Amino acid sequence: MASLVWFITGASSGLGQSLALYALSAGHKVIGTVRNTTKSAAAVQAIEGKGGRVLILDVTKADTVVDTVKQAESIYGKIDVLVNNAGYSLLGAIEDFNEQESHLQFETNFFGPLRTIRAVLPGMRANGSGMIVNVSSIAGQNANPSCGLYGASKFALEGLSEALSKEVAPFGVSVLIVEPGAFRTNFLSALQLNERGLSEPYQNGPVRTALDLFHAANGNQKGDPERAVARIFEVVTGEGQAGSLKGKILRLPLGPDCVNRLEVKLKTVSSDLEAAREVALGTDIVDA
Ligand SMILES: NC(=O)c1ccc[n+]([C@@H]2O[C@H](COP(=O)([O-])OP(=O)(O)OC[C@H]3O[C@@H](n4cnc5c(N)ncnc54)[C@H](OP(=O)(O)O)[C@@H]3O)[C@@H](O)[C@H]2O)c1
Ligand SMILES: *[C@@H]1O[C@H](CO)[C@@H](O)[C@H](O)[C@H]1NC(C)=O
Ligand SMILES: *[C@@H]1O[C@H](CO)[C@@H](O)[C@H](O)[C@H]1NC(C)=O
Ligand SMILES: *[C@@H]1O[C@H](CO)[C@@H](O)[C@H](O)[C@H]1NC(C)=O
Repeated sequence: MASLVWFITGASSGLGQSLALYALSAGHKVIGTVRNTTKSAAAVQAIEGKGGRVLILDVTKADTVVDTVKQAESIYGKIDVLVNNAGYSLLGAIEDFNEQESHLQFETNFFGPLRTIRAVLPGMRANGSGMIVNVSSIAGQNANPSCGLYGASKFALEGLSEALSKEVAPFGVSVLIVEPGAFRTNFLSALQLNERGLSEPYQNGPVRTALDLFHAANGNQKGDPERAVARIFEVVTGEGQAGSLKGKILRLPLGPDCVNRLEVKLKTVSSDLEAAREVALGTDIVDA
């Protein structure tokens, strides 16, 4: 297929950087965004070295998003694929989070994508084509202890994406939600613990256990980011091993751990539905 123009947020590391380099190697055009070109000099060099372009963007800075997208559109005349990848995880007990850290989690993982989506849609509509890829998480379907705010931000992103896919289909614009399990990126090193720490009632129990598991998992995640981005690329372009899924799925699960948790989630929903079916069916207004 013809080469596409990709706009990828959070290209300084992990899945974003790998996807940027993968698409460039395949002959596509890529604009990656990073927050700080000094801190991320190695990634900037790698992307530019393969012919890609880098712009500075912090997705929480609302007033900069539209201009950055315009700047990106002016480089190659359009954006074909927006990849909302920038994100991080805030961990802690829900009772312990403060206002500020809760808002920042949503600013990055939810309002950031909302802003970039609104900014690219006029161009995509004008061209009658485009694809928006939102990197969610298995936590966007199945939320575990300590991930209350992270899961909530990804659930919100999935709700928005689901509605968006229906709103923009008439314009020829499609949406893909990517749900990675645990992949070996910088993600678990970049975890942010809530500021006040774990309060006394949570010192032993499910939140503590989950936090310990995350720390133990860092560096041992089974997921290969190179394979993840290859599958994402294929679903977007319709080429290769996963190419036949293009246009057929809204959600792309990635990793055996993701498949397992998704199955557990579906069974829980299904079992609640069956248990409550009679009750649920009996709530209409009864005509006299
Ligand atoms: N790896 C996993 O196991 C896993 C699992 C499920 C979902 N995910 C999702 O995959 C996506 C990518 O994560 P990753 O695994 O590749 O982790 P990563 O290596 O930590 O990369 C995260 C990227 O997001 C950027 N970022 C964070 N806050 C930002 C902000 N306010 N504005 C702009 N960029 C920001 C980071 O930029 P800086 O370098 O400037 O900090 C970095 O480029 C995230 O949305 C994450 O939730 C990952
Ligand atoms: C960018 O990163 C460099 C190196 O880590 C740091 O010294 C500098 O303060 C950062 N700039 C901004 C604007 O955060
Ligand atoms: C649509 O795509 C064409 C090239 O395929 C480009 O010249 C044009 O600028 C694009 N329009 C917008 C609004 O992105
Ligand atoms: C991605 O998420 C954003 C914000 O959460 C939402 O506005 C948009 O509809 C989603 N995009 C797609 C293509 O699902």
